Amino acid sequence: MTDQRILVALDVGTTKTCMLVGEVGERGKVRILGYGIESSTGMNKGTVIDVNMATEAILSAKRQAERTSGFEIGRTYVSVAGKHITSINSKGVTGLNPGKGVITREDVDRALQAARAVAMPHNREILHVIPRTFMVDGQEGIRNPLGLHAYRLEVEAHIITAASSALRNLEKAVNDAGLAVDRFVLNPLASAEAVLTDAERESGVVLIDIGGGTTDISVYIEGTVWHSAVIEVGGSHITNDIAMVLHLPVDEAERVKVMEGNVDPETVAPDAIVTVQPFGEEMSTQILRYDLAQIIEARVDEIFTLVMQDLKRSGYDGLLPAGVVLTGGAAGLKHIRNSATRIMNLPVRVAQPDDVGGLADKIKSPAFSTAIGLLRFAYRMDAGSAGPGGDVPHSKTPRGEGVGIGKAISNFLERLLPD
Ligand SMILES: Nc1ncnc2c1ncn2[C@@H]1O[C@H](COP(=O)(O)OP(=O)(O)OP(=O)(O)O)[C@@H](O)[C@H]1O
Ligand SMILES: [Mg+2]
Repeated sequence: MTDQRILVALDVGTTKTCMLVGEVGERGKVRILGYGIESSTGMNKGTVIDVNMATEAILSAKRQAERTSGFEIGRTYVSVAGKHITSINSKGVTGLNPGKGVITREDVDRALQAARAVAMPHNREILHVIPRTFMVDGQEGIRNPLGLHAYRLEVEAHIITAASSALRNLEKAVNDAGLAVDRFVLNPLASAEAVLTDAERESGVVLIDIGGGTTDISVYIEGTVWHSAVIEVGGSHITNDIAMVLHLPVDEAERVKVMEGNVDPETVAPDAIVTVQPFGEEMSTQILRYDLAQIIEARVDEIFTLVMQDLKRSGYDGLLPAGVVLTGGAAGLKHIRNSATRIMNLPVRVAQPDDVGGLADKIKSPAFSTAIGLLRFAYRMDAGSAGPGGDVPHSKTPRGEGVGIGKAISNFLERLLPD
């Protein structure tokens, strides 16, 4: 029996606002039924700075998505980014009554609830609680405690929190566009759904989504999220650098970056030229392609250096045999792999969403990893919320009472709790 759902995802990025209506199937296969893409307004570095302007872009994306899909859209999953995102690791313990049988989802939920009880300022909210590993009667490294006999269950969870004000502003912008928020999902967790393989997540990998205003990072080890962060530098900074140094209007700098840009000056012939249209000059002028590449390389190097610093701080930099997976619009820059490999000293691949059909031509690019991944994430939440365990959407190797739902989601390697 196949289980397919029609779901809606909204990614309000710094540069583009994108709404997708997709039919998602068991193995994460997505068929795009409709989409809306609009230039973002009222956004800065991943967060809403002008609710009315953000609403306008969302409304336009929604109308396009309704027109192309033929559905009336009333609610959507929404991705979240911004520097206000922080993550901590926390432990939760619960005692069990061995007389009653084996560990159930309710026991796991209780342990996770205990892990949620971290001291948090009143102006922050928990976005995700992700179990990393369980300990059962002192035995460490248990992936799935369901079905085990025990006296004591302990969970180590990764807790992602967000500033309430940032969430409320985004929620207001979405509500004002006539949409209810099904759930907020952290950007890099959504992107990971679109581009990471199970094998990469198992072995240890860092996903880097370089967008317009932010670079989103998530580290997966042993199948689950161990670390996540948002850095406030992205493709727009590269555009601004080009505009400043070469005295170009921002639109022209953006065009030159996307059409002629290159991250590795060493791959450019020393005399190759690019024609540009600077400010205040009637005639176009010529610049060396090598100079352009140097400007781009400097900023891209900075982005990977900041990512590397964050990974070192997290302590997981040595646990990434599967290396780096790059996505997001700016991952489309020519030879970006060279900079990532040199600075991070890890294997690097550039990824865009795969297994996407339907109206997918425009969507099959690294810029849409978050939106496509959000559809897959929504599917998992949707499937899981119908099963025993209430708001526990999925498990690594579901068994016991989760089997019916579990089959559909058994390939997914992490469990996430909604609020
Ligand atoms: N082919 C390309 N080559 C180089 N850069 C590109 C290409 N396509 C898009 N970009 C750049 O990618 C950036 C936008 O990426 P993306 O659409 O992922 O961002 P966003 O989701 O709107 O923003 P954020 O995730 O930072 O909030 C822009 O800076 C754009 O110039
Ligand atoms: Mg983005």
